[in-house]
Amino acid sequence: MKALLLENIHPSAVQVLESRGYEVELRAGSLREAELVESLGDVDLLGIRSNTTVTKRVLEAAPALQAIGCFCIGTNQVDLVAAAERGVGVFNAPYSNTRSVVELVIGEIIALARRLPEKTQRMHDGVWDKSARGSHEVRGRTLGIVGYGNIGTQLSNVAEALGMRVVFYDTADRPAHGNARRTSSLAELLATADVVSLHVDGRPGNAGFFGDEEFAAMKPRAMFINASRGMVVDYDSLRNHVLSGHIAGAAVDVFPVEPKAQGDEFDSILRGLDNVILTPHVGGSTQEAQEEIGWFVAEKLAGFALAGSTALSVNLPEVLTPPLPDGHRVGFLHHNVPGVLARLNAVFAEAGDNVIGQHLSTRDQLGYVITDASEPLPAEAIGELRASEHCVWLRTW
Ligand SMILES: NC(=O)c1ccc[n+]([C@@H]2O[C@H](COP(=O)([O-])OP(=O)(O)OC[C@H]3O[C@@H](n4cnc5c(N)ncnc54)[C@H](O)[C@@H]3O)[C@@H](O)[C@H]2O)c1
Repeated sequence: MKALLLENIHPSAVQVLESRGYEVELRAGSLREAELVESLGDVDLLGIRSNTTVTKRVLEAAPALQAIGCFCIGTNQVDLVAAAERGVGVFNAPYSNTRSVVELVIGEIIALARRLPEKTQRMHDGVWDKSARGSHEVRGRTLGIVGYGNIGTQLSNVAEALGMRVVFYDTADRPAHGNARRTSSLAELLATADVVSLHVDGRPGNAGFFGDEEFAAMKPRAMFINASRGMVVDYDSLRNHVLSGHIAGAAVDVFPVEPKAQGDEFDSILRGLDNVILTPHVGGSTQEAQEEIGWFVAEKLAGFALAGSTALSVNLPEVLTPPLPDGHRVGFLHHNVPGVLARLNAVFAEAGDNVIGQHLSTRDQLGYVITDASEPLPAEAIGELRASEHCVWLRTW
């Protein structure tokens, strides 16, 4: 069993895969399409980050490939549809850097409240300007969290530990953590919060969701943070409100257009503003997050290849399987048409094989069923299922 891990994936992934019996080849860089086509002939598991593009042509040249691990958040570098059609599972790490984002935001709240960007700049310019003017503690101040999902809720807990009051607004029905209070509208949150921090997701409807009207509705001298998505905020409006003094400070980690390569010029109308922290989309980029992503995605790859679990797959029907039983497991990925499950169960019945557990899920054109049975299915029965017109693949464990 062979795994190829590109783009400097953290050694925690190697550890997990080697412990499951994989021979792991680790490469520092990414591979271009032609190089991938050359390299994937006997590879079972491929690990990439955001710089490797897996096209349909690459998938066609990888007959042994079972799964691709994107050791990052995004998965648009993989042709997910072509992968699903071939039954190749794609996995990522959507939550592994939550804590890193939260810690950056907490640091920024304190830095902005103490006007550190200005203070450190003046010191570097050789000016000693000791003054408490405009500097505040965060204890007792109100943090308004917009988007109360994975990051928003964890931020809520840590901010309360600092003595902040927390209010939140979410379009979905999210329960409050700790003493946090849900507001009935975004307007109510904006009228209440001393710091507004955005943690909404990147659904298309959120493009331009926070603009002039929302900045104007914030309390005078409030602070603003965006570490969610660049396209969510109208940065022209943010600039105007910072220049007018209505917004006392801002921290921005994400931008509508971000430079592609290391060292590329960063162009933004937010450059050069007082008490504005700009960071190059590093909210989730820490060594700890990389380590977490390494083992998390490797576990998903191994769980899929060695036990059939598609938990958190981004392109195959999701079946959360119990641990591999003492019995025998058959995984059957098939076209999502009527009658397939009935035929599968008939094959088990005809073989006199007792089904002890079955888990099914469908997604778009595909259905996936895991069947745990007391006996191994006879070779002829397996052959019949593999030959059936709606079979994408059948695997046994
Ligand atoms: N800066 C970074 O490096 C970094 C790292 C990780 C994640 N992120 C981004 O952070 C954001 C949050 O991530 P998450 O894992 O917490 O996502 P999540 O999906 O768990 O939570 C998003 C929440 O926002 C809510 N929401 C969506 N649109 C809304 C709106 N218009 N008004 C109010 N609530 C709204 C959703 O209901 C959901 O509860 C995402 O945009 C993600 O891409 C950035």
